[in-house]
Amino acid sequence: MMQIKIFSESPEETQKIAAFFIKTILQKKGKVSKKALLVSLEGNLGSGKTEFLKGVAKAVKLKTRVFSPTFVIMKRFNLTHPVFKYLWHLDCYRLKKTSELKELGFSDIINDNRNLVFVEWGDKIKKALPKNHLKINFQIIGKNKRKLTISL
Ligand SMILES: Nc1ncnc2c1ncn2[C@@H]1O[C@H](COP(=O)(O)OP(=O)(O)OP(=O)(O)O)[C@@H](O)[C@H]1O
Ligand SMILES: [Mg+2]
Repeated sequence: MMQIKIFSESPEETQKIAAFFIKTILQKKGKVSKKALLVSLEGNLGSGKTEFLKGVAKAVKLKTRVFSPTFVIMKRFNLTHPVFKYLWHLDCYRLKKTSELKELGFSDIINDNRNLVFVEWGDKIKKALPKNHLKINFQIIGKNKRKLTISL
């Protein structure tokens, strides 16, 4: 496992880091995995997980705005990419049990390699995550400073 640590000094910078991250991922041509590519976003309330996703959304030119889902814990967006057809945004903060994921069709989502899945509070559903998932930890350092640790 490899870890990359990056400091962000503003929400805009977090979005730029997100854009770099997603562009690097989408450049990968060959598809080794039969499963979805899942990125677990972990860290305290207000640490920048949704901000990061907004950066991802802008970089892939999503037409719909990404926001912190209040009632919906799962949203799907269309991608124009040869391999990844859908971008999913899940927020597990309000999830009470891992079994709730079943009702949302989570296993179908992660077993489909056309899916690129971002999960806020992914650490709450650790057992349900595919083995090869990526992880980004967000740590609040100061008012506008965040430490992002990417585990590949
Ligand atoms: N460097 C930074 N990177 C990201 N967000 C920052 C930064 N500095 C300040 N902020 C602010 O911190 C907040 C991050 O909120 P965001 O909704 O992204 O957090 P979150 O991790 O998704 O929280 P939650 O667990 O509640 O979903 C925003 O208000 C944003 O403006
Ligand atoms: Mg959020």
